[in-house]
Amino acid sequence: MGTSVLTPASVRRAGTLHMSDVPLTAVADAVGTPTYCYSADVIRDRYARLTAALEGVPYRVHYSVKANGCSAILRLLASLGSGVDVVSGGEMFKAQRAGLTPATDIIFGGVGKTASELREGIAAGVKLLNAESMAEVELIGAIAAELGVRANVGLRVNPEIPVANWHHYIKTGEKGHKFGIPYGEVAAVAQRALELPSVRLAALDMHVGSQLTSVDAYEHGAARLVALVAELRALGASELAYLDVGGGLSVRYDDEVPMEPEDFGRIVTRAAHESGLELIVEPGRYLVGNAGLLLARVIYRKQSGGKSIVITDAGMNDLVRPALYKAFHRIEAVEPLDARLTADIVGPVCETGDFFALDRDIEDAQPGALLALHDAGAYGYVMASNYNARGRPAEVMVDGARFAVVTARETYDDLVRRETASPTWHHA
Ligand code: LLP
Repeated sequence: MGTSVLTPASVRRAGTLHMSDVPLTAVADAVGTPTYCYSADVIRDRYARLTAALEGVPYRVHYSVKANGCSAILRLLASLGSGVDVVSGGEMFKAQRAGLTPATDIIFGGVGKTASELREGIAAGVKLLNAESMAEVELIGAIAAELGVRANVGLRVNPEIPVANWHHYIKTGEKGHKFGIPYGEVAAVAQRALELPSVRLAALDMHVGSQLTSVDAYEHGAARLVALVAELRALGASELAYLDVGGGLSVRYDDEVPMEPEDFGRIVTRAAHESGLELIVEPGRYLVGNAGLLLARVIYRKQSGGKSIVITDAGMNDLVRPALYKAFHRIEAVEPLDARLTADIVGPVCETGDFFALDRDIEDAQPGALLALHDAGAYGYVMASNYNARGRPAEVMVDGARFAVVTARETYDDLVRRETASPTWHHA
């Protein structure tokens, strides 16, 4: 079995943690903390490894923007050949701003697209709108007819299979989940799509879950999709072009053994080959998760109830995964001292759930020390909020020996920009 990490996002040189050839101390000095840092090299490596595993059939990678919508990352992935998968009008806007072309590069998914979002996607002529219900197919048909176009529609199927991963919040393909069209209803929805002259039934799609621990769900789900392809062709679906198997490839956060992209590739390319359709994959976490870290500074140390508590300037508003999913992120001192401690690593937010780690054995971290919260490139900044009126952090791209701020830290002015002191009152 190969290893899932080709280029590590950080290395220690002369005692100091670096990302590529940039000491993280230099980033903190120039940009302050908390700051997300992303390694361009790691993203390039992941993209190369994944695409190598998909060779042999026609395919396209559509990076899932929800994992990290930083425009510098979108531009980098686009330059490597990736398209995107978006789930809101906002993500589509960002993708277009980053240079992606709707007709060839953008797939629009999501369980609750509004009529105005659908209109934006249809008017832009996106490559695929992945629909999740009969009602949505009808709405797409009506809007496309009004605009005088034929919309390319994929049907997101709920394969209704057991899914193995570490948190039930990120499973999506089991019976009863809100996502997708229940397996047994897909044929009826397809039949309706085939009747609508303004709809081109172009794809079948699934997404079974995120951070999947084995390829079994893909194997099972893809087989169910392939069976449906035959069923829909028998119904007259002659314009099917794509088999979209979603995202979900896992990465290493702690000592778990992630899925090998080669194993994933074998299964999904076989399914694409059997169906005669072009393969689409929508990875998010795999491409960016291990590429990013959150740089934070220790503000205080205290003792409470016999425990050591390390308070950092990053909080749950910056990285919510530990609070929301009890997710594990490795934590290292950027310039470790010669001692260790067991401590709760927490943020400054007024919530007991505002922690990054509890009872964690880490390198000693005195006030002023820099910490790296690893593997925070996916579902980090995108899930950040302004809770406690905290501006969202800066984002930095590291490439070789260079680094650049690609998203400025939010300022106090940003926190009030959308508010007005003289509102217009409506009379009911
Ligand atoms: N395609 C669809 C339709 C999805 O719903 C998702 C993720 C992806 C692709 C990309 O999945 P990935 O390759 O990244 O596993 N916030 C959670 C993860 C939520 C995933 C939602 N859907 C976390 O922090 O772990």
